[in-house]
Amino acid sequence: MSSPRHLRSLLDLEPGDLSAILTRAEEMKRLRGTPEHGRPLEGKSVAILLEKASTRTRVSFEVGIHELGALPVTLIAKDTQLGRGEPLSDTARMFSGYVHAVVYRTFGHERIEELAADSRIPVINGLSALYHPCQLLADLLTLKQEFGELDGLSVAWVGDGNNMAHSWMLAAGLTGLDLRLACPEGYRPEPSVLAQAEALGRGSITITTDPQQACEGVDVVTTDVWASMGQEEEAKKRMQAFAGYEVDDALMARAAERAIFLHCLPAHRGEEVAASVIDGERSRVWREAENRLHAQKALLEWLLRES
Ligand code: CP
Ligand code: NVA
Repeated sequence: MSSPRHLRSLLDLEPGDLSAILTRAEEMKRLRGTPEHGRPLEGKSVAILLEKASTRTRVSFEVGIHELGALPVTLIAKDTQLGRGEPLSDTARMFSGYVHAVVYRTFGHERIEELAADSRIPVINGLSALYHPCQLLADLLTLKQEFGELDGLSVAWVGDGNNMAHSWMLAAGLTGLDLRLACPEGYRPEPSVLAQAEALGRGSITITTDPQQACEGVDVVTTDVWASMGQEEEAKKRMQAFAGYEVDDALMARAAERAIFLHCLPAHRGEEVAASVIDGERSRVWREAENRLHAQKALLEWLLRES
């Protein structure tokens, strides 16, 4: 395996790759628990290396890897030699001799790039400060199941211009979504990611400070926490900056009649989303969370086949 395929961000996928992964994810979901599902990664092993907390990413990868016939090996970084200062590049070389892929959750995105640069196996970004591509695979799968086609769907992002917002932007550029972001001043997405998304050439991205305007007539409303992992000390300041950005029933009423609500979770009811919305009829967050499993199984199978 001299030049593995990675999923450092959605930029590692062509539109056709993404579409193939989503189609296969739907198939794997349908075949789950039947003999036709098979064990395409029989005899292989996949490491999951976590430098910050996780519930969904860890469980969905562990279960998915098991269902593919492979062995998941989860490492909480602080309990490893990496946590005691062993270089990431040495970790990458060592992993390449043991396992067939690695899922990595870290802070700075440069660490994902660093691990991938020294790795002879696929590296999957399980969340960095800049991107959350695995979540977007599940989110796009959820939209495909709900609406059929992705091209032309309108999505409002309300809140922080963070890793999730960035991944929605790249998804728009790959699939043709009409993405409207409403972010307070000072919390807009990175201009460099906007440039990356626009260079993909599909869809459209607009950025405003007005949640009502962003949500007008859209098919999907989505948001995320106001303070991401690692930003706990900014939480108070952020609560003030994001006042007026809660996705509540009044904001959902602006969206199209068929509109659904998504959230990557974990959520804070009464902050970025009202309980009546996330626990209401238009919420698809539980299906979205389940779809992590199906989407990542399809991703792993695809990456190992292509590498
Ligand atoms: N959405 C998501 O990645 O959840 P976890 O932080 O629980 O993995
Ligand atoms: N933006 C959040 C996503 C968690 C899944 C964070 O980075 O903490």
